[in-house]
Amino acid sequence: MEKYGKIQGIDKPVSRLVYGCAGIERRKEDPMRLLDAAFAAGCNAFDTARVYGEADRILGEWIASRGIRDKVVILAKGGHPVLAPDEKGGLSVVRRRITREDIRRDVDESLRALQVERLDGFLLHRDDPSVPVGEVSEWMDELVKEGKVGAIGGSNWTARRIFEQQAYAVQHGFARFTLSSPHFSLARREADIFGDRCVTLTGGDAASEREWYRQNPVSVLAYGALSEGFFSGKWHSGDFHRREALMDPMSLAGYGSGENFARLGRTETMAVRRGCTPSQLALRWLFTRGMDLFAAFSSGSPDRIRENWRALDLELPQAEADRLCSE
Ligand SMILES: NC(=O)c1ccc[n+]([C@@H]2O[C@H](COP(=O)([O-])OP(=O)(O)OC[C@H]3O[C@@H](n4cnc5c(N)ncnc54)[C@H](OP(=O)(O)O)[C@@H]3O)[C@@H](O)[C@H]2O)c1
Repeated sequence: MEKYGKIQGIDKPVSRLVYGCAGIERRKEDPMRLLDAAFAAGCNAFDTARVYGEADRILGEWIASRGIRDKVVILAKGGHPVLAPDEKGGLSVVRRRITREDIRRDVDESLRALQVERLDGFLLHRDDPSVPVGEVSEWMDELVKEGKVGAIGGSNWTARRIFEQQAYAVQHGFARFTLSSPHFSLARREADIFGDRCVTLTGGDAASEREWYRQNPVSVLAYGALSEGFFSGKWHSGDFHRREALMDPMSLAGYGSGENFARLGRTETMAVRRGCTPSQLALRWLFTRGMDLFAAFSSGSPDRIRENWRALDLELPQAEADRLCSE
């Protein structure tokens, strides 16, 4: 498969695998080595966000120290709400931040931390459906016209809201969203593990969303592309009855269903037959879903980063991929 694609609004080719920088400062491995490994493998695109701790700063230091700004694609996010733990053990919204001031503040802070003058792509990390798309379009368009951001889009925005933004933007001569970043992976995400109705393209309820992305000109940046490690080999398909002991609470709530263990079983079997790993198949499967897809993954291991990049070399015909899951 083609390892690079085009996102409207970004003038460089963008690697189909995007290295995710969330939590990079907490890795055991030196973050600079991880970024070097991703870039050396072929990954030129990096997913970051204002709320990802030190990610913007570390990515910026790495880009500056390697002198590769013109070769790297920065996909940044802002406008994340303020969340706080609630009494049910989840996270609740304290304050939404889809406002002109908050979005601008995040863009300016990211530009400073990243030591760059322009974010190649900028997405609103969450939506606030009470804010009309017209207002959001106007604020985002200002940032595009000022040259601070290239491609624009939404993460955890429903396809309906992306469609509404595009329609409004076209009608009023504003820049339209060309990039959407929902959760999407071979394992179904069964619960909203990040809170605040994060959007997933997995599962029966998302069938019409998936279809919309197949029919419309918007690139998808799938996050959690490895189902947050569900295919990592830390547990196997035969472990369903021991899952509570093996899985961390977030993986268990998000992915610990019988359906996902069945998918894991089919993936393990095919991986043995194909001489690859379940993680590689899970990544490669995403590119058989008929969308203009880019996939954000993370790993704290240079070897696994390289392994993931090699997934793009696997031949996986649609019919064979459908045997893993036809969603
Ligand atoms: N827009 C949003 O709201 C949003 C939300 C969540 C995440 N994201 C983005 O998506 C990125 C990726 O998400 P994520 O880290 O949550 O999930 P992920 O990439 O689906 O999964 C990461 C997990 O997979 C493991 N892994 C990676 N490669 C592997 C391999 N070849 N073999 C075995 N295990 C492997 C990693 O372990 P090791 O580290 O040990 O390799 C880690 O536990 C984030 O960094 C962030 O940039 C965006």
